[in-house]
Amino acid sequence: MKQKLSSAEIITMYNQFIANTYDTLPVNLTRGKGIYVYDAEGNQYLDFWAAYSALNLGHGHPQILDTAKRHLDSGALLTRACYNDQLALLGKELTTLTGLDMMLPKNSGVEAFEAAVKTARMYAYRKKEMKRNTAEIIVCTDNFHGRTLAAISCSSEPQYRDDFGPHTPGFKLIPYNDPHALENAINKNTIAFLVEPVQGEGGIIVPSNDYLKTIREICDRENILLLLDEIQTGLGRTGGLFCFKEAGIIPDILIVGKSLGGGIVPISAIVGSRKILQYYKPGDDGSTFGGYSFACAVARKALKIVQKQEIPKRAHELGIYAIEQLRQIKSPYIKVIRGKGLMIGIELKPEAGGARRFCEALLKEGVICKEAHHHVLRLSPPLIISKEQLSTGLEKIEKVLTT
Ligand SMILES: Cc1ncc(COP(=O)(O)O)c(C=O)c1O
Repeated sequence: MKQKLSSAEIITMYNQFIANTYDTLPVNLTRGKGIYVYDAEGNQYLDFWAAYSALNLGHGHPQILDTAKRHLDSGALLTRACYNDQLALLGKELTTLTGLDMMLPKNSGVEAFEAAVKTARMYAYRKKEMKRNTAEIIVCTDNFHGRTLAAISCSSEPQYRDDFGPHTPGFKLIPYNDPHALENAINKNTIAFLVEPVQGEGGIIVPSNDYLKTIREICDRENILLLLDEIQTGLGRTGGLFCFKEAGIIPDILIVGKSLGGGIVPISAIVGSRKILQYYKPGDDGSTFGGYSFACAVARKALKIVQKQEIPKRAHELGIYAIEQLRQIKSPYIKVIRGKGLMIGIELKPEAGGARRFCEALLKEGVICKEAHHHVLRLSPPLIISKEQLSTGLEKIEKVLTT
């Protein structure tokens, strides 16, 4: 019988065979169930990270697995060359849920970001008849839209950009949560404003309450599109189904991903108004796996669970509770605690020496959690977590921040 590889052997193999692009936590996970993950030695950890919010429904949600198995058993993994019911139904359900009209399916979040950029450009050239190659999209400093060339080209983070040029032109940076900056940045070439409703990787930055409403008004007045990246905030994470719904607005293009895949498949999409997406014609875009039937079947189930089990309401209530509890912690390291729903950041003072060492201390306490933007401890547990389980994790956080 083959011997199981030890964690030390796995880590050595990583160092030898896997490009070193992640500051990986020193733990070798072999399985997950609900809100827990387990390492090769059988130790249990509370997942306060949920794979960058892709696991809103936790690890191996039974209904998601059941749907996946049934779909696999049917033997049908259908792609876009022919019609299939799962993509059609996902399109219907996602548009009904969002109040938008049409979707374009993709695989990863950044591909959907790219699709949003392409779609806005296409609309400007085909509908508004702008001169080709002149379109500009306004984005915000400290944004995170992924790692393709277009996404890093609009990033303000030197590490993401500097050694990967030449960059894609057509982006203009303005400060986040600053409607006046948006007004001032718009010129005759501006076609869209692309923004996250809460900046995630940027350090859990929650804008003022009226931000989305105000930027919607500005985009309408200036006749430019509003593209909202809800890849991380969407589907319950921030305590509503989507931030835009909570704000009472509707974007021209919504970008979704991560937990749309029920924690087991990469699937993303843009959902937009027909007035824009109608300009696509066959051959303009495509993706081998984008919108394939298996991912769509899983995504449909994920959408159903989010709605039926009132996942956003849970995130809202537990988020209020968690922030209240965290604000009572008396730690010399905490600068500020902020968040929306179960997307919470503990910003640490410079003298704390960064968030990473606290993530490692938490790992030893049996809690998985990651840093955002070096000095922010980011908490994003699966939204199916119970209050008791949440309390257990919060107690561990208090412990590492006070000892
Ligand atoms: C707001 C936002 N947009 C885009 C992305 C990129 O998604 P992916 O890593 O699936 O490409 C992320 C990932 O963290 C994100 O948080």
